[in-house]
Amino acid sequence: MKKSNGRNKINIAVFISGKGSNLKNLIKYSLKKNSKYTISLIISNNFKAKGLEYSRKFKIEKKIFNYKSVKSSEKIIIKKLKSRNIKIICLAGFMKILSRSFIKKFNNKIINIHPSLLPKYKGLNTHEKAIRNKDKYSGCTVHYVNSQLDSGKIIMQKKVKILKSDNSHTLSKRILKQEHIIYPKALASVLSSL
Ligand code: GRF
Repeated sequence: MKKSNGRNKINIAVFISGKGSNLKNLIKYSLKKNSKYTISLIISNNFKAKGLEYSRKFKIEKKIFNYKSVKSSEKIIIKKLKSRNIKIICLAGFMKILSRSFIKKFNNKIINIHPSLLPKYKGLNTHEKAIRNKDKYSGCTVHYVNSQLDSGKIIMQKKVKILKSDNSHTLSKRILKQEHIIYPKALASVLSSL
């Protein structure tokens, strides 16, 4: 039987691999009075992900998979997502590539936050690349996930000016602040279109 969250809110799962500051921020927004969603599941591929602490802190179920076999991990994840009646998956620093068939199953239901102004700088080390290329601006993007890396339809972006004094650490910190502003907004707009 599908579990209801008892509050008529839309169930969301967040997939993480690391620090989980975006997860924490999405939880914070979910707890606001008018929020339409609740985070009912956290999935990780990393047993040591710092962000997993928010599972205990906010009493959210977590499941961790070693992904040795992508197929069997995803099979269990899909079961879990269905039993939890998850409507949208938010990737937040999740470092595994989802399989084509997984993405197809959740077509237009998976969104991701990426630390660059896509389509510029897909993949890793975005801040280094933007600084090395002497770009004036970088930023962050929330987009739908399709089967090509960081290439799905853009939902929201925020520009951040690159300062002369910036290194990848200082730039990533300023961009992360903006991520925390646009991810909940982008999620709200996705939910309103469901
Ligand atoms: C963020 O910069 C996000 O854009 C990228 O991975 C980082 C995750 O940070 N995909 P956190 O784990 O949410 O703090």
